[in-house]
Amino acid sequence: MIITIDGPAAAGKGTLASKLALKYNLAYFDTGMVYRAVGLEMLLAQNSLEDVEKAEKLAQSLTFPRMIELSKNPDFRSLEGSKAASSVAAMPGVRSALLLMQQNFSQNPVFADGSKADGAIYDGRDTGTVICPHADIKFFVTASPEVRAMRRFKEYESKGQKADYNEVLEQTIERDARDYAREGSQPAQDAIHFDTSDMSIEEVFEKACKIIENR
Ligand code: DC
Repeated sequence: MIITIDGPAAAGKGTLASKLALKYNLAYFDTGMVYRAVGLEMLLAQNSLEDVEKAEKLAQSLTFPRMIELSKNPDFRSLEGSKAASSVAAMPGVRSALLLMQQNFSQNPVFADGSKADGAIYDGRDTGTVICPHADIKFFVTASPEVRAMRRFKEYESKGQKADYNEVLEQTIERDARDYAREGSQPAQDAIHFDTSDMSIEEVFEKACKIIENR
């Protein structure tokens, strides 16, 4: 079984995906990690975030183990790391270089320890449209920019990272504009929509489980 969960940043995709992966024994691929990995490589190499050629080269040489290694760096999910990820994700050459790595996971889904799984759950922006258009179930999860910015702000605070709510809100709106301008980022036609602005994660999870079990 392949499930995709798309939607904007901090809409609750990751939490929902992790809970569903655990319940249905599915391997989980957080596809934002591929862009975060390339963005962080750019920062570590002190490349300009406008340097498309260097970003494409780094995307072409990215491997799964390197991505996991980079994910341990505190900047992988920092404000700066998020900006870098969003910049490289806007480059078509970077996206196409990372396409196969993401698609291959659905043919051979594996858990974090390397053992084989019977299916996969993806979270991202284009997983139901570009990466796995034939997924069995597609969700599109969203929430208002203010609610999402507050979630990200609290996440930074809980990690002891400095952040300003207004700056996080501004960045959320900017990232939405950049992320949704490109093809494939709109909801898949057959996606089931959830607005999580006024829903608890338990409510979202229960609704999603009912849909999965009814299929
Ligand atoms: O989901 P995230 O915040 O970790 O994603 C990091 C960046 O990568 C974000 O700017 C959106 C982009 N992204 C994308 O363009 N396509 C995906 N499938 C996943 C993430």
